[in-house]
Amino acid sequence: MTRGKFITLEGIDGAGKSTHCAWLAAVLRERKHDVCMTREPGGTELGEKLRQILLDRSQAMHLDTEALLMFAARREHIDKVIAPALARGSWVICDRFTDATFAYQGGGRGVDSRRLEILEQWVQGGLQPDLTLLFDLPPEVGRRRASKIRHPDRFEQEHEAFFQRVRQGYLQRALEAQARIRVIDASRDIEQIQQELAMIAQELCR
Ligand code: TMP
Repeated sequence: MTRGKFITLEGIDGAGKSTHCAWLAAVLRERKHDVCMTREPGGTELGEKLRQILLDRSQAMHLDTEALLMFAARREHIDKVIAPALARGSWVICDRFTDATFAYQGGGRGVDSRRLEILEQWVQGGLQPDLTLLFDLPPEVGRRRASKIRHPDRFEQEHEAFFQRVRQGYLQRALEAQARIRVIDASRDIEQIQQELAMIAQELCR
């Protein structure tokens, strides 16, 4: 059995990646791949409970606690969902993964990236996505889209400077892992983005 491919989608809130996740999964299914679509934080019963805590705006927490909870949820997710799916040959499409922790907790909150690297190694060992699509756009554009959300969660309610730092955190990660992370201009029309995604899917399926 050949191992499936592990693809993650990233971007600041309002970048549209959840829509693109579903679209990409549908394209890959059309090409007869077994696709496991999942998300972080979450993806398991315990992970979804941790997600509720992490997104709850009335729940204040230390920045280290936030980072540790993200990795705790990830540990469960890898063990219960991601690793088994890849082992049985499924392709995993994951809406956010560790790059989000470097961008949000590292860039946004200011957790030292060396601490995050230790947790990354502890929780993931050698596991890394085969490909990461980073949907990049200026925070003011993301904000305009996200402002339609009636009850913003603990992250969505953050100010623009926070999302500027998150964006820089993502772009820094992309510079450090150019072979894995592909930056996609998410400020374009959805049709143009889907054209690019279709080409990426074609490359992946070769
Ligand atoms: P979502 O709205 O894309 O599902 O993600 C939930 C929020 O969690 C989003 O605002 C980003 C945040 N997040 C982090 O801060 N660190 C992480 O490691 C992950 C996976 C998500």
